[in-house]
Amino acid sequence: MTAVGIDAMEIWTGKLELDLPGTFAQAKGEDPEKYTKGLGLVTSSFPDTYEDIVTMGANAAKRLMDRKGLTPDDIGRIDVATESAFDNSKPVSTYIAGCLEQVFDGDFHHANKGERKFACVAGTQSIDDAYNWIKAGRNRGRAALVVATDTALYERGDPGEATQGAGAVAMLITENPSLVELSTEQGYGSADETDFLKPNQQFPSVDGKRSVQVYLARMREALEDFESVAGDTHPDDFAYVPFHTPFPGMVRKAGLFGYRHTLRGTDIEDELTDEIGRQPREEAFDSWEEYEEAIRDYMDSLKRTEMYRDWYARTIEPTLNIARQVGNWYTGSVHVARASALKSAAETGRELAGEHLLVGSYGSGAQAEIHAETVADGWKEEIQALTLDEQLSRRYELSFEEYERVHDVHNHEKETELEEFTQPDGEFVFTGWGRMNERKYDYVE
Ligand code: HMG
Repeated sequence: MTAVGIDAMEIWTGKLELDLPGTFAQAKGEDPEKYTKGLGLVTSSFPDTYEDIVTMGANAAKRLMDRKGLTPDDIGRIDVATESAFDNSKPVSTYIAGCLEQVFDGDFHHANKGERKFACVAGTQSIDDAYNWIKAGRNRGRAALVVATDTALYERGDPGEATQGAGAVAMLITENPSLVELSTEQGYGSADETDFLKPNQQFPSVDGKRSVQVYLARMREALEDFESVAGDTHPDDFAYVPFHTPFPGMVRKAGLFGYRHTLRGTDIEDELTDEIGRQPREEAFDSWEEYEEAIRDYMDSLKRTEMYRDWYARTIEPTLNIARQVGNWYTGSVHVARASALKSAAETGRELAGEHLLVGSYGSGAQAEIHAETVADGWKEEIQALTLDEQLSRRYELSFEEYERVHDVHNHEKETELEEFTQPDGEFVFTGWGRMNERKYDYVE
């Protein structure tokens, strides 16, 4: 069977940064440790005045095409995943294709374009669509371009404001990929939930605490569904487990749940028995409440064990390095987590080809998806080609007043004039609105 997966990726961060424990916590009169220790965040990325979901997505895609030596004829499909779209009809992929046509010879007139929406899980769903298109043999030898791009902004004063971010991930989906091969097996956990939504409004309505519980419940269902097709999982089956990362503290909770679930009935549970006992089994309890309380106690003990701490440090922690510096990128977030893990492996000299990842995506509303990936032979070269460190170190650091003004610039309800903070250099920029209220873009040399 032909392997299909991610051949290459590029990441584009918004060019501004906000120091959360410093600038933001200070302005809000909060303890900086809420950010560093609680949420697990240090800085977040913001778009400059001339950046938006189109420029960030097109800039990531251009870099990907340049690096892989591609022309528009090589791409048969452009799918954009976003929950920050500004048009209910014309998809963002048409804007991104239009940008790319400004700089590449040829056009994308024979590429199928679309836009995927299901909160943050839409990035993974777009990869699925590309995978299915290639597996069905409808791609005529061409690759799919998937772009996950978002400006994850919340209303000022909303608790979600602490977890904002902005950036894009462009991924090339092909046969015999160089980065990771996707498993056929997938698990879903999906239910009609109102934890986070944007009913025709720019900023989300969020029930933050509930959203955390819904994330964990749907992720557990997805893992059970995955195991029903792929067989039981063992914590040590996977080199890394990248999760959707709205903030690293969320993944700290998900990691513990995942570890508890996957160690059940394994040698690890046996080894831990003397220290913390065996995991409670539902059938041993008279009520669900008693069982849940016993599970909570068990997890409290589990998270203190050396076995768990080692596993977490090895398998989860490396997936969070980038998220700590950029915040939530919604549709791009889980793909940033994968990149973070692979980048950490390359930096520490770990050999990964042939090893497996378990990838947990999530979108509010709500749906979790879990699949496995096999790291391909070309992973190191691909991941070492990323320029993210350079991009992060070049971000302009905002004062709190500047942050408020740039937030207003990106607020669709406000008209705010503001000079840009950085100079565009070899990139697409937003230049204003056209006759039919369409957004306009130029490439700046
Ligand atoms: P909050 O009320 O600002 O924060 O909301 P908190 O008081 O709950 O504190 C956060 C954590 O920091 C807690 O840790 C505190 O204990 C800790 P926990 O108890 O949960 O482990 N803390 C401290 N630790 C050390 N020293 C201190 C300190 N102070 C507090 N001094 C919340 C937090 C996440 C609810 C908020 O930011 C929010 O509403 N965020 C947006 C929603 C969200 O991200 N939900 C995540 C799951 S849903 C999801 O992932 C989907 C999403 O990406 C959207 C999509 O799919 O499209 C959001």
